[in-house]
Amino acid sequence: MLSASLLLTRAAAFAIAVTSCTAAVFSSTDGFTSSSYSSSYGGNAICISGKTYINASATNTKINYSIPDQLNATQTIQELLSPYTNIYTATNGGPANVSGSYALAARLCFPADETAAAKVNTVHLLTHGATLDSTYWDFAKGYSYIDAAAAAGYATFSYDRLGVGSSVHPDPIQVVQGALQVEILHQLVLRLRGLASSGLGGKTFSKVVGIGHSAGATFTQAVTARYPADFDAVALSGITTSTGTVAAAEAAFALVVANSQSRFRGIANGYFTFGSGQPGIQFAYFKYPYFDASILAKQTSTIQTNTLGELLTFGSIVAPAAAYTNPVYILNGANDYVFCGGNCSQPVDQNAAALAFFYPAVGAKGKSGQEPNAGHNLFLHTGATGFYANVINWVNENEL
Ligand SMILES: *[C@@H]1O[C@H](CO)[C@@H](O)[C@H](O)[C@H]1NC(C)=O
Ligand SMILES: *[C@@H]1O[C@H](CO)[C@@H](O)[C@H](O)[C@H]1NC(C)=O
Ligand SMILES: *[C@@H]1O[C@H](CO)[C@@H](O)[C@H](O)[C@H]1NC(C)=O
Ligand SMILES: *[C@@H]1O[C@H](CO)[C@@H](O)[C@H](O)[C@H]1NC(C)=O
Ligand SMILES: *[C@@H]1O[C@H](CO)[C@@H](O)[C@H](O)[C@H]1NC(C)=O
Repeated sequence: MLSASLLLTRAAAFAIAVTSCTAAVFSSTDGFTSSSYSSSYGGNAICISGKTYINASATNTKINYSIPDQLNATQTIQELLSPYTNIYTATNGGPANVSGSYALAARLCFPADETAAAKVNTVHLLTHGATLDSTYWDFAKGYSYIDAAAAAGYATFSYDRLGVGSSVHPDPIQVVQGALQVEILHQLVLRLRGLASSGLGGKTFSKVVGIGHSAGATFTQAVTARYPADFDAVALSGITTSTGTVAAAEAAFALVVANSQSRFRGIANGYFTFGSGQPGIQFAYFKYPYFDASILAKQTSTIQTNTLGELLTFGSIVAPAAAYTNPVYILNGANDYVFCGGNCSQPVDQNAAALAFFYPAVGAKGKSGQEPNAGHNLFLHTGATGFYANVINWVNENEL
């Protein structure tokens, strides 16, 4: 009993500390509903979380398809991953406009240090990868980009993408597609700059740095192609132009209709998640032995979903950002299996090749590299702290 009450007292003391600190850092909860305060894992950041509504419209693709059951789903995935597939053209019903006001689970974090918080004018806009969620950026103690950014004096904004985690789950075939994800990200930039509303948590920012991982890197890159003035800089990980092993990685997912699992009960049939569990997640996202087994276990128990709409439309949003000229940093885990077949130096430097393809106009403002001893989810490997430092030092060097 004694220890239980001691724990409760500590929890209450922590709650009071968080509340007095947040009052000094956040002047309001504007832009959030159901808001609450929290700290990042290492305590460097103080955060406001809640739902935020983003209005966006996009020209999606009408997809003439449905997923009636798991037998159909598995055959559909087999067709998607066939080198001879015609599923993209066979299901393409032409352009279809979508628009809505979408409730996204979002988290705005500032340095917990009030003096550092008062000086912030740059926010890092963090967009997670497919089947992951916003926890990728603040995953466990010692595995938190948000902590590292806060310690360096930066704010961060992370969110569960449309159709993921605690965000709204609209139609996974017609609505949750690449084009709409890109427009939502663009609207988030406008919101953070105070151009689409009065900002979030009483804050607006003069500089926005886009940090994207995997599918989140694809969406961030697509924003630089479509809206070259949006980001002051972008750092992209888990992205190359080498797609030879993507199908093998996705086959290892052994995608299942997500609502067959209790965590996802009730969502529509075009949402998929891993059917292969921990071995499949390790195969696609990790490089043994350079991770902690507890991190892989946590990734397995928190793995999220992707949608048929995204799988069918990712390809159509990939294009060079010919007019983007701000700083770019492309970095991958040196042993990324998904986009490098396990070696990002083979058969050429895939990091440099991606930079050249996606950013033909950046010149000396472009940088590429790879982090040793890390697979696709590089920020969850044992070297993560050093990888965060490389990104943040690069942001500092660019005076952002
Ligand atoms: C978003 O759309 C809703 C209606 O769909 C509207 O009430 C609201 O004012 C819009 N918000 C912004 C910031 O434009
Ligand atoms: C899956 O079901 C849809 C809707 O009935 C159908 O159009 C499609 O051909 C089926 N796909 C496969 C691979 O059976
Ligand atoms: C959808 O596919 C069915 C056959 O699979 C076809 O009869 C129908 O015309 C298609 N509809 C559109 C809008 O393409
Ligand atoms: C879709 O939106 C675009 C841009 O707003 C517009 O030009 C186009 O006419 C719309 N298409 C349809 C089918 O409504
Ligand atoms: C990756 O390929 C490069 C170039 O051939 C080679 O030097 C390096 O040892 C390889 N790395 C691994 C981990 O196999």
